[in-house]
Amino acid sequence: MKIFIGGAWPYANGSLHIGHIAALLPGDVIARYFRAKGEEVLYVSGSDCHGTPISIRARKENISPKEITDRYHNEFKYCFDKLGFSYDIYSRTDDEYHKKEVQDIITILYNNGLIYEKEVEQLFCEKCNQFLADRFVEGICPVCKNIARGDQCDICSTILDPLELVGRKCKICGSEPVVKKIKQLFFRLSKFEKELEIHLEQSRKNWRINAINNSERYLNEGLRDKAISRDLLWGIDIPIKGYEDKKVYVWIDAVLGYLTLSKKWALDNNESWGEFWNNKAISYYVHGKDNIPFHSIILPALLSGSGVNKLPDRIISSEYVTLEGKKISTSNNWAVWIPDVIEKYNIDSLRYFFIANGPEKRDTDFSWREFVNRNNGELLGVYGNLVNRTLVFVKKYYENTIPEGEIDPHIKVKIELLYEKVGEHIEKGDLKIAIDEIFDFIRSINKYFDEKTPWITINTDKNKCTNTIYTCLISIINIANLLHPFLPFSSSKVKSWLSCDIEPWEYKDLEIGTKIGDFDVLFERLDKEIIAKELSKLGDNY
Ligand code: MF3
Ligand code: ZN
Repeated sequence: MKIFIGGAWPYANGSLHIGHIAALLPGDVIARYFRAKGEEVLYVSGSDCHGTPISIRARKENISPKEITDRYHNEFKYCFDKLGFSYDIYSRTDDEYHKKEVQDIITILYNNGLIYEKEVEQLFCEKCNQFLADRFVEGICPVCKNIARGDQCDICSTILDPLELVGRKCKICGSEPVVKKIKQLFFRLSKFEKELEIHLEQSRKNWRINAINNSERYLNEGLRDKAISRDLLWGIDIPIKGYEDKKVYVWIDAVLGYLTLSKKWALDNNESWGEFWNNKAISYYVHGKDNIPFHSIILPALLSGSGVNKLPDRIISSEYVTLEGKKISTSNNWAVWIPDVIEKYNIDSLRYFFIANGPEKRDTDFSWREFVNRNNGELLGVYGNLVNRTLVFVKKYYENTIPEGEIDPHIKVKIELLYEKVGEHIEKGDLKIAIDEIFDFIRSINKYFDEKTPWITINTDKNKCTNTIYTCLISIINIANLLHPFLPFSSSKVKSWLSCDIEPWEYKDLEIGTKIGDFDVLFERLDKEIIAKELSKLGDNY
């Protein structure tokens, strides 16, 4: 089977923080799992390099937008790599191939009558002497009455047109913009309403509930055509006569990246992209909840309109992560930055936290205390402990060699069942339950070790002792295998200690007589002192 996985493309205008990783990590777990199952996976993402915030940032630093995107693109690549993200290809939207493909798709849509010209009223700031990009207008959201940006309300996640805001202000200078007439290109999104309604009905079981609810709301409100040209200097040129000075709306450009990058990957690797984009393949889209409508409504409409009849099968859309009980704010430095933590902490400790405490169905909180507790309690106290006590025992009493024992048949059945259950959960994107099931199993094996008292039976009933230890060893190698998609680094360690480099997602035996490699601790204890240290770095005063 072919599995396509599209991870959201982070904006290349600032460093990654924990919010990004909490939303994106499920993609890597799912990709690793399907590869272990022997499926063919294409897992893609890249840096989102267009959009107004990037040009604003460049202007502020007095360098070119390209210098900004280069800087963050390289940083993202380094971070994702270090975190173990197993993208098959990671690119960027200012890549020439992507630009050309987006232009081709726009041309196709135009030729299919799905893009048309319309005169619109747009906000112009006379003080700044420029048309204002949507997100540079601020005002009251017509739906929830909170302060919102012109493109989208962060509180109620309605996609907005800046003209719908009440009490509009230019975000750059604070003055009230005037309304001017100007021609723009529109995409006939409304034409896809019926098709998207049917697709939503079919997807009820396969999309996360927030994706269903959010998309349903849009469809109920009725889809409106969407302006796709923008008066900007930075972005992809519109390939239509009379619009040469304008750029493609950044979201159209970005969501098309999934398709253009699949094509590029196929070209580079002499593969076929179409097999990942037909109805025999399964597609997963992994992102944060503010990205939902772009993936559930806009992307499918663009695809369908340009002749690619592959709609998102699974939408893994996360809620938000708060930090120490408060909303993450990059401008106030209320954030935990990825370039910082990947140098300081065990990567699997970070990965474990974002899965076991992931914002799958509701917002979850990252706190340093909880991070330390989970590392010391679960990773070290439960998993590390089982591995360590077993290997130390084998070293002491069995010449560091896997002894000839028999596995407890009940435990064997439990392990086999675990592969099935955990697999089903991962396929549904229920990663928290999946990893909890594995950890419940580890606890049960620690209990088994305690109850079987091998440290006594080694003297009273060696046979029994050997069976206990053998059962623990088999459990450990299977735990490492089951945890591989989640915690690839520690799993690889365990596998190498047991001289076993398995990948397949199935029950695994160990070879009797194999020497165990030099092992050390699987997870380091984190000192409680780091809590205060890390907390002092949060906020303005840092
Ligand atoms: N850059 C967007 C964000 O960070 C995500 C774009 S996802 C894509 O919210 F699919 F559109 F690329
Ligand atoms: Zn609102």
